[in-house]
Amino acid sequence: MQRRDFLRGSVMAGTAFAFSHRRLWAQSSDAHVEILVNEPVGVISPNIYGHFTEHIGGVIYDGVWVGPDSKIPNKYGIRSALLDRLKEIGTPIIRWPGGCFADSYDWKDGIGPAANRPKRTNFWEVDPDAARLHHKGPQVFEPNSFGTNEFIQFCRLTGAEPYLAANLRSLSASEFDHWVEYCNSPAGSTTLAEMRGAAGFPDPFRVRYWGVGNESWGCGGNFAPEEYASEFRRFTTWVPSFDLDLQFIGAGPNGNDIDWTHRFFEQLYVGHRYNNSSFAGWSVHHYSWNLSRGKTQDWIKGKGDALTFDSVDWYELLRESSRIEQILNDHWAAMGQYDTAHRVKLVVDEYGPWYRQGSEVDLTHIFGQQITMRDALATALTLDTFNRNADKVMMATCAQLVNNLNALFLAHEDRFISTPNFHVFAMYAAHQGAQALRAEISTPDIRYSRDGEPARFWGLKGSASRKGNTVTLTAVNPDVAKAKDVQITLYGGKVKNASGVALAANDIHAHNTFDQPDTVRTAKLDLSTGADFVTATFPPGSVVKVELTLQ
Ligand code: AHR
Repeated sequence: MQRRDFLRGSVMAGTAFAFSHRRLWAQSSDAHVEILVNEPVGVISPNIYGHFTEHIGGVIYDGVWVGPDSKIPNKYGIRSALLDRLKEIGTPIIRWPGGCFADSYDWKDGIGPAANRPKRTNFWEVDPDAARLHHKGPQVFEPNSFGTNEFIQFCRLTGAEPYLAANLRSLSASEFDHWVEYCNSPAGSTTLAEMRGAAGFPDPFRVRYWGVGNESWGCGGNFAPEEYASEFRRFTTWVPSFDLDLQFIGAGPNGNDIDWTHRFFEQLYVGHRYNNSSFAGWSVHHYSWNLSRGKTQDWIKGKGDALTFDSVDWYELLRESSRIEQILNDHWAAMGQYDTAHRVKLVVDEYGPWYRQGSEVDLTHIFGQQITMRDALATALTLDTFNRNADKVMMATCAQLVNNLNALFLAHEDRFISTPNFHVFAMYAAHQGAQALRAEISTPDIRYSRDGEPARFWGLKGSASRKGNTVTLTAVNPDVAKAKDVQITLYGGKVKNASGVALAANDIHAHNTFDQPDTVRTAKLDLSTGADFVTATFPPGSVVKVELTLQ
């Protein structure tokens, strides 16, 4: 049954079918999920499930790269345990080398024999976080042991597509062209291709995705949007394509700074009638950092703690993360005023919670932080938002993969663990490349007290998709205290069998450590199944996946 037919039926005729389910829900369920199998939203790009690795703190050195001579198991210098886990969750795309680092990085420093590569001051050396480092290792003085060849090797070993961020602040457009040439010119065709071949990579890397600068409103050059638009045109005009459909991603706003987007697009489309079909994506960064409960906008004072928080902070963080939906809708609408065919899609290439320092597993891990159940819910609700907006979002890369902000992994020397975020990505992998379906969720808001004032937060959100005969529903129950009895009804298909899995813990602060790596892990979710509905109890503070096989 189509949702429209169902609504018409229930309003006009009051069919026994529709009303019996409504009554069942009213009597015994806290929430009702309606999945509309015949109402597709768009294909969920696998690239929405991407990752981000920057030369910052412990991400590359310690996290990804241990070096070929290390005793830590590795493949070509890359940590084997990381490779294994990335293969488990399906890794469609990885962004590198930054972040802010990208706009200070000279790609030529990172090619050629390792022994000949120069040592440079890392961009993050200026950050107050770096000042506390007890030794001046690769986090401060970049050794360039991990460069373009090693990154491509990393991508090949995980099956990911590379997404490179070009330096627009401190290198020229010609050096950008040369990086493209180094990566993509055919074997033996150019001097740079020969250099690539000499390093053991005769075949082109075929890099399609290129970020053109990063946060150009800030660390990437402190440009005005009109200035950045003119740089963007210069960098993206007549780049050698080597028969690839290059995909350029423009550096979009800070959070919901809609003015940046309007002024960039106006300059490009109205001022210059820019018509480059390789302009494919507009990047948006959204960090959830302000837990001050409305008291300050100060970047340092507004941050909360990764491990010490109460239930109000829990909702506060989830509320901040939920803003991503508004950001997507606002920017999509703004872009559509200029790019009326919506050729340019959204790329959320940095997202996640950002806490004050103190919970990193090693001092060298600038912006390293512990990942609790709260962060798992923030990640899950963000991925659900991308799925629901599959028609608008072409790519997203979580910031960052290991030892940083919203990490899936924590690693130091020979120790390596998965965080609750890894489990979220494992659960949500089923959505990659699937057809997003409309899913309507009805449930009351959660009510609580925020500094003596009544406050509310949504009670259940999620997303649904279909791949072949399998419909996947993922959802977040943010309620810190109450489980939710949920009825899932399918319109347009009959359920043959169903299975479920939940990520939940008794403590909202639960997280994994090197000593207790499995405190947070997924468990089977019990379900009751009817012909076109399933019921289940979603634990408090949980992420849930239900898979329905259609008859
Ligand atoms: O992810 C850490 C930093 O946050 C990135 O380098 C930068 O782009 C953002 O401000």
